[in-house]
Amino acid sequence: MNEKEAILNRHAVREYYDRKIEQKTLEELQSEIARCSAEGDLRIQLITEEPGAFDSFMAHYGKFSNVRNYIVLAGKKSDDLCERIGYYGERIAIRAQMLGLNTCWVALTFSRRRVKKHFRPARGEKLVCVLAVGYGTSRGLSHKSRTHSELCSVQGDMPDWFREGMNCAMLAPTAMNLQKFRLVLTGPHSVRAEATGGPYAEVGLGIVRYHFEIGAGTENFEWDPVPEKSGSKRRSSGHSGAESGAVPGDISAAAFAASEK
Ligand SMILES: Cc1cc2nc3c(=O)[nH]c(=O)nc-3n(C[C@H](O)[C@H](O)[C@H](O)COP(=O)(O)O)c2cc1C
Repeated sequence: MNEKEAILNRHAVREYYDRKIEQKTLEELQSEIARCSAEGDLRIQLITEEPGAFDSFMAHYGKFSNVRNYIVLAGKKSDDLCERIGYYGERIAIRAQMLGLNTCWVALTFSRRRVKKHFRPARGEKLVCVLAVGYGTSRGLSHKSRTHSELCSVQGDMPDWFREGMNCAMLAPTAMNLQKFRLVLTGPHSVRAEATGGPYAEVGLGIVRYHFEIGAGTENFEWDPVPEKSGSKRRSSGHSGAESGAVPGDISAAAFAASEK
């Protein structure tokens, strides 16, 4: 399975078999985690055989069952932390899929307190979210998607590479499947990715960037920076509850549970 096939096959999986991850698979996953931590300047850690984080009211309410392994996604606080977490976290999720595992991004419906028994953020660090990982009892279901025209902007003909990029971007997981992003073709070989607001939109934007690169091929285009908004330090628009540390008002376990498919 290559990255594109893994993107097609990946869906959020919340129920897992009570089965240890095989040693060779674990080693390959750990190698990708080490590469992503280094390239993304992040602290990413795999915690195995630890059921506590998903043995809480929130986790059961969010329909999680038998989660015994998870990947903690954290890093030094900075304006682009959430976007890097999204990009490199999804690279790990796609590698996990290629290794025969299933995953689910989780920002809310797990116990941060219990995770912190196994992963202590250093001063100035932020634990943004986790990825549940293991052998799923199902492959999950395809999510509903907004249309191309809602998610991208292209003047004239859409190049084939851009269309391929969009096809993969539309399969990207986003919080509550809100798909709060927009990809703009700004020149013959340049693209701008924008977060359009909502909870965890910047984590979603990083995930979308990774998917778009796999679909479009990085040899075909370059990313355009998002113009700075006056009075704003942020590189891209959109609110990120994760970065501020606050739980956004419009995000809840019930909303996650109800948002599916
Ligand atoms: C940043 C982020 C945070 C998420 N947080 C949660 C969560 O707290 N609980 C949950 O059940 N699902 C969570 N999800 C999973 C989404 O609900 C799921 O990815 C989305 O519905 C799309 O479905 P798919 O992953 O099958 O494509 C999160 C996804 C992302 C990207």
